[in-house]
Amino acid sequence: MSGFLPRSLFGQTLLALLVGLVISHAAGSWIYTLDREQAVRAVGGFAAAQRITNLTRLVQDTPRASRERIVAALNDQTFRVALSAKPPAMASGDDDGQVADAIRDFLVDQLSLGSAQQPRVSAPWPARSGSVFGNWHPMMGRGPMMHGFGAFGPFGGFRELQVAIPLSDGQWLSFATALPQGGPAFSRQFLLSMGLMAIIILVISIWVVRRVTGPLASLSSAAEKLGSDLNAPPMPETGTIEMRQASRAFNTMQARLRSLMENRTRMLAAISHDLRTPLTLLRLRAEHVEDASERDKMLASIAEMDSMIAATLQFARDEAMAEPHRRTDLTALLASVVDDMADTGLPVAMAPAQSIVCECQPVALKRAIANLIDNAVKYGKRAHATIRSTPQAVEITIDDEGPGIPEDELVRVFQPYYRVEGSRSRETGGIGLGLAIALSIIQAHGGKLTLSNRSEGGLRARVSLPA
Ligand SMILES: Nc1ncnc2c1ncn2[C@@H]1O[C@H](COP(=O)(O)OP(=O)(O)OP(=O)(O)O)[C@@H](O)[C@H]1O
Ligand SMILES: [Mg+2]
Repeated sequence: MSGFLPRSLFGQTLLALLVGLVISHAAGSWIYTLDREQAVRAVGGFAAAQRITNLTRLVQDTPRASRERIVAALNDQTFRVALSAKPPAMASGDDDGQVADAIRDFLVDQLSLGSAQQPRVSAPWPARSGSVFGNWHPMMGRGPMMHGFGAFGPFGGFRELQVAIPLSDGQWLSFATALPQGGPAFSRQFLLSMGLMAIIILVISIWVVRRVTGPLASLSSAAEKLGSDLNAPPMPETGTIEMRQASRAFNTMQARLRSLMENRTRMLAAISHDLRTPLTLLRLRAEHVEDASERDKMLASIAEMDSMIAATLQFARDEAMAEPHRRTDLTALLASVVDDMADTGLPVAMAPAQSIVCECQPVALKRAIANLIDNAVKYGKRAHATIRSTPQAVEITIDDEGPGIPEDELVRVFQPYYRVEGSRSRETGGIGLGLAIALSIIQAHGGKLTLSNRSEGGLRARVSLPA
């Protein structure tokens, strides 16, 4: 069932409004027709009752011998009259009690009938031919009454009002006639008015629902942006009270997150900076160590720590800088990194590609790509870069021809200061921040960075940025 429901808030609200409208309109209309029908039937019934009263008086006042002739003369196709010695069989069940009672009361009153002379009245529910819903009655929920007058002796064929009145001398005078019916419950006017109302409500509710759901869409897009850009401008606080509250709460959250990140970065910078002073002192002291080999080892360790701290400090400074986003040609950006490195004699190449323009932080992105190419050259002999654009993303790959990375380390190498065993001792080994920095920059762009070992050997770094 839920599979048929629209999934958006907009669709669901609209559907609920429309269903509500149709049901309430149909119910209102039905009640109205029912009422009108009752009234029409009652009025029609009284006209017939008036005629029955007059004819009964006439027959009553006629001598018994002439009654048959009079009755025969009064009888016609639409208004049947008959005289019998016994009470005729009447239609039973399916009586519209209100009309029958009203007519009976009227007759008793007009003809001043005594309690022994109670007239029998039957006014069954009408057959609703001509209604758009065929033979259907709203109240009874079943077909029209097809029985009754067939058994009504002389009046076979009539299915509406039947009245049998006992005359003072024991004879029964019977009448049968059709009662007027109300129009079909679902007339053309009804459908027209419902259609018109539906269109009006549809137009108004589209406007209202758009107004309500519009800001929701901008809230979700702002939340999406927050992941990649903490410095995005705050959301406009407009719309309904609830929407304004939500936007304000969102803006507060973004401001708090930003200040939290700034505090962290500042703390990282402060620690890195402050570590350098004791490190300098340590280096000075180490220089006085007598044992030459021990001294060289100490100085090498201190140099390594120093470069780690320098890199961390640089990372913290870059984070704090919050470079603005700019439209940039990514192909040109990749080519410039490749060219710069190739110019210094490094084995770096790039496949020709069309220009791909994208909104990004060019300096940071350049740094991330340079780190990846740097790794490919350092650990994989040579780097080969490609760039292509798909409908969803811009994809950059950096392939090398080295040993790759053991499968179980492919994720761990993204951790800061983590290096695969072996590259530690190598003099080419860095401090282990390159991939962590590249990952954080690419994620800040809403993109993905993955490493995989190529089947033909070597590592592939794949950067995918949202288009
Ligand atoms: N293309 C590659 N082929 C093989 N191993 C790699 C490759 N790229 C990275 N690695 C491994 O992953 C580790 C982490 O790389 P990362 O770039 O983070 O640090 P680093 O290169 O050691 O130091 P930094 O980049 O900070 O100078 C490297 O030490 C290396 O062992
Ligand atoms: Mg590196």
